Amino acid sequence: MQTPQFRFRRLRRTSALRRMVRETELTCADFILPIFVEEGIDEPVAIASMPGVVRYPEAQLASVVKRAAAAGIPAVLLFGVSQHKDAVGSDTFADDGLLARMIKIAKAAAPEITVISDNCFCEYTDHGHCGVVADNDVDNDATLVNLQRQALVCAHAGVDMIAPSGMQDGMIAALREALDEAGFGHIPIMSYSTKFASAFYGPFRDAVDSTFKGTRNTYQMDPANAREALAESLQDEAEGADILMVKPALAYLDIVHQIAAHSERPVAVYHVSGEYAMIKAGAAAGVIDEQAIVMETMLSFKRAGADLIITYYAEQIAHWLSEHH
Ligand code: PBG
Ligand code: ZN
Repeated sequence: MQTPQFRFRRLRRTSALRRMVRETELTCADFILPIFVEEGIDEPVAIASMPGVVRYPEAQLASVVKRAAAAGIPAVLLFGVSQHKDAVGSDTFADDGLLARMIKIAKAAAPEITVISDNCFCEYTDHGHCGVVADNDVDNDATLVNLQRQALVCAHAGVDMIAPSGMQDGMIAALREALDEAGFGHIPIMSYSTKFASAFYGPFRDAVDSTFKGTRNTYQMDPANAREALAESLQDEAEGADILMVKPALAYLDIVHQIAAHSERPVAVYHVSGEYAMIKAGAAAGVIDEQAIVMETMLSFKRAGADLIITYYAEQIAHWLSEHH
């Protein structure tokens, strides 16, 4: 008779044993909730492809942030959908612009929560690109100057962390310098350091960014490139990024693993709209178990090396985690 050389099943026999040898665990503290706020609406607007995700009116932001804090979520990531768009996204430079107002509202609603701003221009430019456009492309260095102005507005509004998402070269060095010179050396930068030009953003763009017609292929990364993906994040680390990020998440776990292995910094992943929409659609079709799929997906992020997870499921996950204890 054949006898196995080693019996792995010995430590899988009981639930207690399985818990004892579990290598990876999820906690509320791992999660960051993205929140969309749109100017000029009175009621939440549903996003058809993302059931359960809405664009909130400004007047509801305080209660949404309070709810997240009460659920045990340590951080929110604020996105504005502007009705005051222009060629450069100048509303984000204004002390009373949407970006500054969202930060002040969120901070006042729940002072204990970490308020993170998404620092970009695409929701504030009439063309929808992530910066100043010249010769049919985003002008990298002109955009850096505007990013510096925008970051200082966020800092003065009381932001706890900034998260530049525009994939411009040199953006972390430029932002670190601007913050430090203005006396905001304590504000950390979470860089969208390795962000791919991805079809997984589709549902989000359909819902929020409907004026945008082009591609971001000249600044976001080619999904085919792994060595460049690592170099992008290591460059941002060298420029002073406090947290690195991979976006999207599930299709890029090899990249997450590489960055976690080569960097000293914490690594975040962004579980994006298309990833969320696929799970919701599968669950609605009755072909998958939503909670089990979500938790297994989140576990895969941490197993790959992620320390933080940005997901539209954050609040739901916090409730699921509390039911299990
Ligand atoms: C742009 C931006 C993107 C998302 C939010 N802001 C990516 C893009 O349009 O290129 C996508 C978020 C998601 O899909 O969940 N800075
Ligand atoms: Zn952008």
